Amino acid sequence: MKDEITRDDRVANLKGMGCSRKRVEDARFTQGKGNYVDDIKLDGMLFGDFVRSPYAHARIKNIDISAAMEVPGVLAVLTAKDLEPLGLHWMPTLAGDKQMVLADGKVLFQGQEVAFVVAEDRYAAADGIEAVEVDYEELPVIVDPFEALKSDVVLREDTVQDGKPVDGAHGPRKHHNHIFTWEAGDKEPTEEVIANAEVVAEETMYYHRTHPCPLETCGCVASMDKVNGKLTLWGTFQAPHAIRTVVSLISGIEEHNIRVISPDIGGGFGNKVGAYPGYVCSVVASIVTGKPVKWIEDRMDNLMTTAFARDYWMTGKISATKEGKITGLHCHVTADHGGFDACADPTKFPAGFMNICTGSYDIPTAFLEVDGVYTNKAPGGVSYRCSFRVTEAVYFIERMIEVLAIKLDMDAAELRRINFIKKEQFPYKAALGWEYDSGDYHTAWDKALKTVDYDGLRAEQAQRVEDFKAGKTRSLMGIGLSFFTEIVGAGPVKNCDILGLGMFDSCEIRIHPTGSAIARLGTISQGQGHATTFAQILASEIGLPADSITIEEGDTDTAPYGLGTYGSRSTPVAGAATAMAGRKIRAKAQMIAAYLLEVHDDDVEFDVDRFVVKGAPERFKTMKEIAFAAYNQAIPGIEPGLEAVSYYDPPNMTYPFGAYVCVMDIDVDTGVTDIRRFYALDDCGTRINPMIIEGQVHGGLTEALAVALGQEIAYDDMGNVKTGTLMDFFLPTAWEVPNYETDYTVTPSPHHPIGAKGVGESPHVGGVPCFSNAVQDAFRAFGNTHTNMPHDHWRIWKTANALGLHD
Ligand code: CDP
Repeated sequence: MKDEITRDDRVANLKGMGCSRKRVEDARFTQGKGNYVDDIKLDGMLFGDFVRSPYAHARIKNIDISAAMEVPGVLAVLTAKDLEPLGLHWMPTLAGDKQMVLADGKVLFQGQEVAFVVAEDRYAAADGIEAVEVDYEELPVIVDPFEALKSDVVLREDTVQDGKPVDGAHGPRKHHNHIFTWEAGDKEPTEEVIANAEVVAEETMYYHRTHPCPLETCGCVASMDKVNGKLTLWGTFQAPHAIRTVVSLISGIEEHNIRVISPDIGGGFGNKVGAYPGYVCSVVASIVTGKPVKWIEDRMDNLMTTAFARDYWMTGKISATKEGKITGLHCHVTADHGGFDACADPTKFPAGFMNICTGSYDIPTAFLEVDGVYTNKAPGGVSYRCSFRVTEAVYFIERMIEVLAIKLDMDAAELRRINFIKKEQFPYKAALGWEYDSGDYHTAWDKALKTVDYDGLRAEQAQRVEDFKAGKTRSLMGIGLSFFTEIVGAGPVKNCDILGLGMFDSCEIRIHPTGSAIARLGTISQGQGHATTFAQILASEIGLPADSITIEEGDTDTAPYGLGTYGSRSTPVAGAATAMAGRKIRAKAQMIAAYLLEVHDDDVEFDVDRFVVKGAPERFKTMKEIAFAAYNQAIPGIEPGLEAVSYYDPPNMTYPFGAYVCVMDIDVDTGVTDIRRFYALDDCGTRINPMIIEGQVHGGLTEALAVALGQEIAYDDMGNVKTGTLMDFFLPTAWEVPNYETDYTVTPSPHHPIGAKGVGESPHVGGVPCFSNAVQDAFRAFGNTHTNMPHDHWRIWKTANALGLHD
């Protein structure tokens, strides 16, 4: 019959792996039906907000709350003194340090939380904040980490005992303002290789402080039900289960009596991984008042006080033969952590995965040393759309490659090509310890360069330089290149944990009798579209249409324990758990099918959406029929029902990679940049949803553009934040964003059940050096080696000026 459903129709009907399925989340987001934390309104709910320090470093002599308590609508004002008897005036950070919840004797950065005013509404809380009188005694401010390491000023009094620095969470301190030293690789051999090398290039670069700046700021609602002893906490949490465990450990409330719910989240990018004083104060205030308490940051609070990103001073030496074969790499980082070390990294990695800084290159010898330092800036150090400092690592190596190319007077694309790790070298053990799972860098690079007509671009650029020198144009042309390797999917429990919690992930699936399903995961989407893509993984694994599968995340009462969503770990870890749970369902379904078809288990095989008898395709049972049978028939030796749960501990990280090219014109007289072309080739292994991948790439590139070309959190010498509003902090709009051309190759991960690697952060990781290299490259012919980001118009103008191009 002509209209019989074909196998291809059945595959298409599933909307499984590889299908550009439309995002199921968007129906509610585009119709204003999202449910964000600020949408939560509970009976009698109060509002809490902070008195914040105007000073970056000051002793607190007195806090007078009496006038505030008279303000109509104000019910309570909490200070460190109120939290101290509960042991909650300081809290542990993810980095093994501790952080003041409310200022305990002094403040260490501008905007630090000093007191928490609880009122009937946000307006009364704001009036109450105005009425709290704090008597400060200003102290010397240090915003430069190098100065901090020389200064007599002790920023953290708990770092000193009997006049000497005491050990920190990661070993001895070199100075009272020093937090840790972390090393990877071989120091002496690397120094020896570099000392004896034919060519050595050196550079120091500052990867400036910036902020993830999600559209939705951080916030929570805490509701303590004293009758039942249950605490419910809604919040913008990227890791709800970890938050539940932390709240239990620091509050003493048993974990089963705490329910943490992450509702819809309007972007996270790392900003919502850590624990903030607002969470602790809201919980305490709810316990004290017996009412639900909401705390929501405003934009300035978010930019000035919650977790920053980057702030790495990186000094590199790279050695090579005269022909350009790299022989060694040395990297030293001075990491500015602000007032508390609140970096969100796996415990054993105080500088995250900075030791991926050998990049995509076969570098035989390398050494990395990172020194963490306290200053009078906000704490944090999150992976802003990257997997734990990988953006810094990739920026470092991709700049060092360019600097080496200048030293060798070589083409930077060719220098990359001759140093890439070769396809046959995978799995590749890098000099700094990681084992890269798979890659085919040469194929990706050749495809990228061919697509953009690299040789043609270089010829055009050479002509432009001649025209500029001849006075025919005032515009220069930069060709930005980057080739990056990410490391995502933290991570094997054996070496990755957060606060002692191994970094596995989980998925639980229940198939309903009618052949639809719900899957619950320990991750939480913040815009990535998990409800769409995880259903696609399942559709292909269990043969039920993605449209019949609900994905639920973010509720600790219902989801199995998971470590959350950040560092592009969802697909590598939770995606793998999903596939594995699906396979358990399929294994049981096979036994049911065999029983129904009256054959041995081994005589049936899975085919798209059914089990068929081998060699007799007309004899089959669809997954829908099998689901019904699981609930409707008494099958000997098989429990009723069709459910499965999987906890997945990945054997290794996954290593996505990509090749990016940016073509940029720069007006030398104004410093204005015009991105003429941006080509992004990504390899994230097996692709689940090409449309969502493209969206991830667009978003990540746009954030990369922002960071490279203007976005920063800047301080003056007094520790005042100069970029605390969106008037000063660059958030790109459609006006600044170019048209992106996306492309791909597919090199599956050999250890991931479906071969997928993460992708969400790749475009940011690869994008920042690509934009920056384009700016630097435009000035290469005029003697430029390196200038620091962000490359805003003013700084570019200054570069041109310093090179004598305005004479
Ligand atoms: O952890 P996070 O969700 O931020 O990052 P991710 O694992 O890279 O996934 C981002 C989005 O891209 C998710 O919806 C993934 O399912 C999707 N993705 C995909 O379709 N194919 C891949 N190979 C990797 C991610």
